[in-house]
Amino acid sequence: MTNESCLDPNRPTRVLLLNGPNLNLLGSREPGIYGAETLASIEKRAAELAREAGYELQAFQSNAEHELIDRIHRARAEGFGFLIFNPGAFTHTSVALRDAITAVRLPFIEVHLSNTQAREAFRRHSYFSDIAVGVITGLGAFGYELAVRAAVRELARP
Ligand code: DQA
Repeated sequence: MTNESCLDPNRPTRVLLLNGPNLNLLGSREPGIYGAETLASIEKRAAELAREAGYELQAFQSNAEHELIDRIHRARAEGFGFLIFNPGAFTHTSVALRDAITAVRLPFIEVHLSNTQAREAFRRHSYFSDIAVGVITGLGAFGYELAVRAAVRELARP
């Protein structure tokens, strides 16, 4: 471990990267909007970045709202201290996912590949932004890298 805070056994050292519906299709899904990189490649790089900083990152994607909710519920008990979450279209619809995050009281960063503020009006509202530590939007796959760096910084905060 390279980060001193990881030596404290009471500090969480795990980050959960969650992706919602249709993000399993990254690479082939509207590449002009979402880029050409696959989710597997994004997840691999995120895990590497976290590992280099002394943290473990696990990734989970689902097209089903209830599976994402169940994954969030288990996260705290499994030692995760931080979430990175791209809820996909659930960003604009899901009170249930928002409630799940509030219930487990895990800090999180909201990530979007596209700039949701510059697209259709229905994408401008997020059920997550006001309870997120931060929001990264419009920077493509690079946004996930930034989110990992920010998550690590948050977890290492004294
Ligand atoms: C998205 C933006 C959402 O509006 C959309 O429904 C997605 C992807 C993004 O990463 O840009 O599925 O979250």
